[in-house]
Amino acid sequence: MNIYKDILVFDNTYREIIKDSDEEQVIIHNIINHINDLKAKPTQNQWNDIWSSTTNIPEWFNNQQRIYRFNNGFITTQNNFLEKDIVDYLRTYIYRKYLHKNTWLIEFGCGSGHNLDHFVDLGYSKFNIYGSDFARSALQKLESRGIASFYFDMYNSEYEELPEVLKFYPKDCIVFTCGAMEQLGNQFGHFYNLLLKMNAGLYIHIEPLIELYDQDNTLDKLAIQYHHKRQYLNGFLDRLQISNRINILECTRTTFGTLYNEGYNILIWQQT
Ligand SMILES: C[S@@+](CC[C@H](N)C(=O)[O-])C[C@H]1O[C@@H](n2cnc3c(N)ncnc32)[C@H](O)[C@@H]1O
Repeated sequence: MNIYKDILVFDNTYREIIKDSDEEQVIIHNIINHINDLKAKPTQNQWNDIWSSTTNIPEWFNNQQRIYRFNNGFITTQNNFLEKDIVDYLRTYIYRKYLHKNTWLIEFGCGSGHNLDHFVDLGYSKFNIYGSDFARSALQKLESRGIASFYFDMYNSEYEELPEVLKFYPKDCIVFTCGAMEQLGNQFGHFYNLLLKMNAGLYIHIEPLIELYDQDNTLDKLAIQYHHKRQYLNGFLDRLQISNRINILECTRTTFGTLYNEGYNILIWQQT
């Protein structure tokens, strides 16, 4: 994967915003204002409302501002859907490199299930897929498309509530999250213990990882502030890295994100 080269393939309209230019200063000013006014992440009820009122493609993918973080700066583009295009690109990379036939894919915090739809479009069997969420409206969306689903709250659901396939054939299962562990903040311990207990064949995450920012970099400092204010995932990568039971196969900082943070790092690991 070479996102710096490949981004041109699906967006030849983007341009870099020049470092320290007036244009960049205005963007930074707007980010600071936004962080000051920021509310906490959505509650379970709010997620329920979000998924009952949207199509399968999340609304946040339609970005009217068309300014993104990329490669330690900002870019602007004609393409409202660049974020979706990047996610498509990352999912395709994951599909080709890690999703083999004869495995089951289980996504936690799957929302509308658009990640699962894309893996099916790429060739993954629809019958080997499970989506789960703590928003019932999200599960209804999956059911209406014939995708197996189950209620699971990463904060406090238990091992017994997992699908049978994960209990009986764990090594044939791939656990996947995308912007979902993000929501757990520093309260990821319960789910982390469950991940280990699952003993799955592979764990794949596309998530914001606060550990990857450079604390001395101005733009990264803003992203760190945003991450804290939203109470996003904090400490998960550190926890994996200090465990002698875990082998991290890939940890890629893609450097792509919205104006505010980089939500699309790739983290892939196995238990030893
Ligand atoms: C940012 S959305 C990401 C949805 C989807 N994975 C995607 O890539 O579009 C976060 C999702 O996590 C779910 N979620 C948040 N906290 C959760 C929890 N404690 N247990 C299960 N799902 C949760 C929300 O309902 C929502 O669907």
